[in-house]
Amino acid sequence: SLETLKAAAGRAPIVPVLVVPDVQSAAPLADALVEGGLTIAEVTLRTASGLAVIEAMKKAQPDLIVGAGTVLTGDDVRNSIQAGADFLVSPGMSPKLLEAIAEYRDITIPGIATASEAMSRYEEGFKMLKLFPAAVAGGVPALKALSGPLPHLSFMPTGGVSTDNAAEYLALPNVVAVGGSWIATEKDIAASAWSDIAAKAKAALQKV
Ligand code: 3PG
Repeated sequence: SLETLKAAAGRAPIVPVLVVPDVQSAAPLADALVEGGLTIAEVTLRTASGLAVIEAMKKAQPDLIVGAGTVLTGDDVRNSIQAGADFLVSPGMSPKLLEAIAEYRDITIPGIATASEAMSRYEEGFKMLKLFPAAVAGGVPALKALSGPLPHLSFMPTGGVSTDNAAEYLALPNVVAVGGSWIATEKDIAASAWSDIAAKAKAALQKV
């Protein structure tokens, strides 16, 4: 549930957004993230191996909370759940996705970029939202402004977050975690740069 996710974020509030090209990378990647002190990972469904990667990461590191990202369709929802995803993340919402994701509202973090979208998702029963793309959608000032009229909503900003600005986001009371691709980039993963990934995770956690 999102409560488990929130508890894990309390220990390490950075969620690496992963594009993993091959399932062989899944276990060493999961090991590197845990070695780096992280507790949560988001595996995007942008590669054909995404679903298998979720399964393999959970097998390698059963305590790592592994979610599916870039969930766009009903098939993505069903496949992610079947693969064992602990949570689902989408860049936004659509009528068909809303229908497919209805029974998983309590483990879904939908993307929003405006107050109206945030209000709609809240009405529909979503409790945690992803400000996306965070840097473009107003960043820290936007989250500060939204907390005035919408103090009951919590956010995981993603998109343009880095080691340099993660602490600013996390200082806000309505930010539970930040997401980003910088901890383990596609390039890092393709190069099997496991120790670099662990080092980047440690460095980022130290700053927040
Ligand atoms: C994504 O969906 O790719 C995430 O928002 C990552 O954004 P970033 O590359 O700016 O961290």
